[in-house]
Order: sequence, then structure tokens, then C-alpha cells
Amino acid sequence: MRNIDAALKSAYKVLDDSVIHYQGQPVGTVASYDPDAPAANYADCFVRDFVPSAFVYLLDGKPEIVKNFLELSLKAKELQHEIEGHEMLPQVMPASFKVIRHDDGREELHADFGDRAIGRVAPVDSMMWWILLVQAYVHATGDVAFSQKPEIQRGIRLIIGICLRDRFEVFPTLLVPDGCFMIDRRMGVYGHPLEIQALFYAALSTALELLVMQDEENHAVFELIAKRLELLTDYVRKYYWLDPTRLNEIHRYKTELFGHDNANQLNIHPETIPDWVVDWLPEEAGYLVGNLGPGRMDFRFFAFGNLLSVIFGLATDEQSQKILELYNQRWDSLMGLMPVKICYPAMEGREWQLLTGSDPKNIPWSYHNGGNWPTLLWAFVAAAIKMDREDLAHHAMIHVNMRLHKDQWPEYYDGKNGRLIGRRANYNQTWSASAFILGHKFLQDPNALKKLSLGYLRINQPTFTKTS
Ligand code: GLC
Repeated sequence: MRNIDAALKSAYKVLDDSVIHYQGQPVGTVASYDPDAPAANYADCFVRDFVPSAFVYLLDGKPEIVKNFLELSLKAKELQHEIEGHEMLPQVMPASFKVIRHDDGREELHADFGDRAIGRVAPVDSMMWWILLVQAYVHATGDVAFSQKPEIQRGIRLIIGICLRDRFEVFPTLLVPDGCFMIDRRMGVYGHPLEIQALFYAALSTALELLVMQDEENHAVFELIAKRLELLTDYVRKYYWLDPTRLNEIHRYKTELFGHDNANQLNIHPETIPDWVVDWLPEEAGYLVGNLGPGRMDFRFFAFGNLLSVIFGLATDEQSQKILELYNQRWDSLMGLMPVKICYPAMEGREWQLLTGSDPKNIPWSYHNGGNWPTLLWAFVAAAIKMDREDLAHHAMIHVNMRLHKDQWPEYYDGKNGRLIGRRANYNQTWSASAFILGHKFLQDPNALKKLSLGYLRINQPTFTKTS
């Protein structure tokens, strides 16, 4: 017990030390305050990294910083530079922002919309996390008036508008470039990655709750959202789902089928089923595959996408149970010695060369390519609690209780089992510490999830009327 107290104290110290201020107010947390962090932008406040910090503040009854963050990140869009040859997309949230302090005391806000980021990757997830955080703030504080402010309503509408805008696309899922979410480097995750679909689903459902009914401007948006939600949900539940029965179907798929009514609409070639999955997938378990597109099923297991699908209800209850059962039966692969592995398995050899561009940071079983990320703990514990698998949540926390603070809150771990501290991992990574605090909070008080509006979205969803 004393060890846990010491670990929690140390986690809170990391969180407190990470707070950044603007005009005298706390507005966010830096990604890491490791002075040896390899990239300068770890001193920025990343939108996605701030999410677990924000949850901790909301549960601790300190919502001010979250409110300030939500307002400031919305304003940050004014800082966006035009990208030559493109119409400006002012509604996109930045990946990160920072406050520059000049010698004369002036403060200046800088934001990165992917125009400065390593590899110039677009942060598509930021805007969805922003909507989810507005919802969490409103639920935790009861400050409904905040979400009803015209600028917040406008912000939500703009984000939903950009997501629903038509593109060269025939699927209900969202088409995005490589590296546009937590995995923000080339990793063969372009197209329709699961994590973006889970966030898209959650953001759409949340927008239905947050947009003000009485506002005429919102009516057309409601209809669009409801229709897209219905299509998206059916599509992901059906076509992304993989369990032994589905695997067998795909194994025997006919190909080259033209027309509307055929089982293999995307022309997936059974030959693409990787060897590892056949014996690895247990009889009683299943998961949502990492990506799906024409002639392409990415069979890799991506943890965050699956866990968010459980938490927000994109996966059905039965599917969610099977995802947790997969963790239970494949603990060594998916959790190892330091929960939670970001994706499984790692890409190696020629595949790694081609899909990462021979990225030395993403070598097999490191960083995004099969590394283990403590920040995913909060989502794992939340998903496990939601599906009545506290046993698994406790099991995960035992691993981190013993180690994480002694290792100084690293960003990620390396190795098939996550035994080594990541070769280029920062120390004092804020979201590693805040996820650890959240894991404890969720286990102590399962109502905490409800307070943050996590895992209970389905209750308030509208009933759809079929228009065919
Ligand atoms: C890395 C991670 C990204 C995170 C950033 C700051 O780039 O891939 O998800 O937001 O570091 O911690």
C-alpha cells in the first residue's frame, strides 16, 4: 500500500510540474518535461496528451484548467497559417500549442497544425478529442451553459462539418492520411484506421448530445449525424470484426465479385490472411481489425482503437466481451510486462522497410511498431470495468504499480514483452503519469467513468428511423 501511495504521489508531481500557464491561468500540460527529450515539441501541450490529464483534473474537482484549455485550443485555430495551394481549414484543432515567453514579459501562443510536426502529419484526432473533452467537462461540472456558448456550439458544428464533408469516398468510415492520430508517423495506418473510426463515432454521438436542439442551424446537422452514425456503426461492426467464424468466412471468400449483393464487397483476397493470426486467435475471442479498404484488410490488433470502441460502444456488448477475452487469453502478446502494447504484431523486414520508410524509431517491437505504452492504461482499465472484467484491470495495475514510477514515468517500453525502457523514450511523460492515476481512480470508484461520460454514450443516443 505504501508503495502505491509513493507511486501516486510521484505521478501527481509529474502532473503538477507539467502545467503551463498563459496570461496567468493554467491552460494545459506539456507532453514531457524531460530536459533530454529528443524533439523540441515535447515541451508543447498536445491535445491528445492532455486528455488523461484533463480527466484527472475533472475527477479531482479542478475543472478550471480544462475549461481554459478548451477555450484556448479553439482560439488557436486563428493561428493557423495558410498552406499554399489549399483552402484554409480553420476548424481543425492543432496537434499541440505552446506559450513563448519573451524577455520583456510578452507571451505569444504558437500552435502546430501538422505544418511543423515531424513528417508533417495532420492531427485528425485532436478535433474529436476536443469534442469529447467538452462533454466530459460538462458532465463532471454540470456547467451546461459552457457547451451552449455560441463559440463552443460553432466549434462543434465546424468540426462535425469538416468530418462529414464529402470526399472521394464510398464508405461511411472516415478517410485519412498516414500518422494522423496517436500513431503520428508513417506506419501503414492511412486509409480507414480503427482508432479514427472509434473517435469519429464517439465525436458524432457526443455532438448529438451537445448541440442545442432549439437552434435551427443545428437541425440539418442532426439528421446528417444520425444517418452517418447508423451506417458507420453497422459497417464497422460487420466488416471490421474478426473472430474465428469470420476468419473462416474470409478464408473461403470468393473474389472478383461485381454488384451489390456479395459477401466480399471489398474484394479481400484470402491469401492476405497472415500466418500469425490463424493459430493466435482464440476460439472464444475476437477483435476489430486495424484498417479496411479496397482489397485491404489490415489484420494487426491496435489497442487504442479496440479499447475506445469498447468504451464508447462502437463494438456491440458481445464483441466487447470478446475483445476483453482476447486480452485475457493473449496477455503475453498484448500486455506483457508493461501494459499496454500499442499494436500487435510488429512489422518486420521488408514490410517494416516499405510501410515505415525504414524508420529507425519504429523498428520491430519498439515505439509505435509494437512498443508498450503506459498511457493506454486508462483506456484498458475503463474498458475492463465497463465489461465487468475488473480482474483484468487489477492484473494490469499490478504490473505498473511495481515499476512505472521507479522507471521515472517513461513514454514507452521496448521488446516483445515490454521489458526494456524505450530506447528513445522520454522520462516524466505526463500522459504516462496521468493514465496511472486514472487507472487507480477508475478502480476505486467505477462511477468516475460515468462522471467523465465514458462508456455510457449509448444511453442518450437517438433511435434511428430507417430511410431506405
Ligand atoms: C509522440 C506520440 C504522440 C504524442 C506525442 C507527444 O509523437 O506518437 O501520440 O502525442 O509523442 O507525447
